Amino acid sequence: MNALTTDLEALLVAARTVRERAYAPYSKFLVGAAVRSESGASFAGCNVENASYGATICAERSAILAMVAAGQRVITSVAVFTDADTLAMPCGLCRQVISEFQRDAQLIVANPRQRRVLAFSDIFPEPFVLDR
Ligand code: THU
Repeated sequence: MNALTTDLEALLVAARTVRERAYAPYSKFLVGAAVRSESGASFAGCNVENASYGATICAERSAILAMVAAGQRVITSVAVFTDADTLAMPCGLCRQVISEFQRDAQLIVANPRQRRVLAFSDIFPEPFVLDR
């Protein structure tokens, strides 16, 4: 696997670590995510499912909520870690929420066997923007 910057590697470790706390008794699909903000701090989140399935929150949005609660509003990078053979990309809802706090972050998606670094703007070039 190609070398990552120290920052991105650390973010990936945070995502991998928090994944172990995911609450996913229904899908059994554990996801860990971590976002780094402009301040350099990182925030981790896991998916938290619910018996009322629609109440489930994804790992990426969980990490972003922690970031905003800490007073940060600009994301510089996002890491997502699963154990899926097909690398799991952020879902559409999470892409829209990521785009609220940045348009051009680095994104890394990984499993224990492979990883891929992408530009967020490449996977979500035209977010919904509320412009009245
Ligand atoms: N999930 C995430 O945590 N992030 C995504 O981007 C897509 C899906 C979670 C939600 C649910 O707990 C499980 O994965 C299966 O959909």
